[in-house]
Amino acid sequence: MPLADLNQRYAIANHVQFKVGEGGLSVAEISNAHASSRIALQGAHLMTWQPHGQEPVIWLSKFAKFAPGKSIRGGVPICWPWFGPHATDGKLPGHGFARTVMWEVLGTKAMPDGGTFLRFGLVETDATRAQWPHPCSVQIDFTIGKTLNIDLVTRNIGTHPFTLGEALHTYFHISDVGQMTIRGLENCEYMDKAGGASELKKQLDGIKIESEVDRVYLNSTSDCIIKDRGLQRIIRIAKHGSHSTVVWNPWTEKADKMGDFGPEGHRGMVCVESANALDNTVTVEPGASHHLVVAYSLEAMD
Ligand code: BG6
Repeated sequence: MPLADLNQRYAIANHVQFKVGEGGLSVAEISNAHASSRIALQGAHLMTWQPHGQEPVIWLSKFAKFAPGKSIRGGVPICWPWFGPHATDGKLPGHGFARTVMWEVLGTKAMPDGGTFLRFGLVETDATRAQWPHPCSVQIDFTIGKTLNIDLVTRNIGTHPFTLGEALHTYFHISDVGQMTIRGLENCEYMDKAGGASELKKQLDGIKIESEVDRVYLNSTSDCIIKDRGLQRIIRIAKHGSHSTVVWNPWTEKADKMGDFGPEGHRGMVCVESANALDNTVTVEPGASHHLVVAYSLEAMD
């Protein structure tokens, strides 16, 4: 839909308007009584969220590339309908196609508490159907306020069950990776993708990052918190419909190779991804819906 039509149908004064952003991508710009945020229609990719009076909560690389069909480094990429490499076809894109295809705006609303609600739907094309031949409808709801709420909904509108992998691959902005600890995954077992081990390991304590970390924690449903001593704040990640949590920081060498982190860019971010991956993939029966829901909020540190 052309921008003028999008604005006519969905812009709301003092809440949301649609603009052309970096790389010519159409972007929803939200600014309300609580926070500001930007969401690209490509990938329904939330790029920023900053409650007023706070440092950004979501990290977006200063060196991110914005181009049609390319994933943006930072924000909340939607990994769907598989997480990581495709199970059988290595030519298909890692983390699925949802983050690089177009989504359409389905609705916007000013909420009674001053927040802004936006709904997007994934646009199916021959290319998406070729990669995922299961009749389904995919929507994502964002509520931008003091808290950021996201609800990714997959409905099976076909006659056969399908099995889905997914993640909200959120990059969080932190003062410095040496100043933060992640808690909430103690006693969970994880697949150590960076360590190359095929056996599961057990998390004994809070997570500190001092080298490359790429871990899928299985059967992890509790809240996670990121304690940031530099910014003197806690980011709380509450979720449901998600049974895995991915913790990722590429560290120096891998970040340099990726080419969109910038020098030492990895020090200011950590990914804590609410996912359904590996043994936690989800089977959706015909007529059923699956919700992956997260709520991100800030707390002061004692
Ligand atoms: C993480 C994976 O979720 O995403 C990592 O566990 C991967 O293995 C990272 O490197 C980034 O992936 P991409 O495709 O966005 O570069």
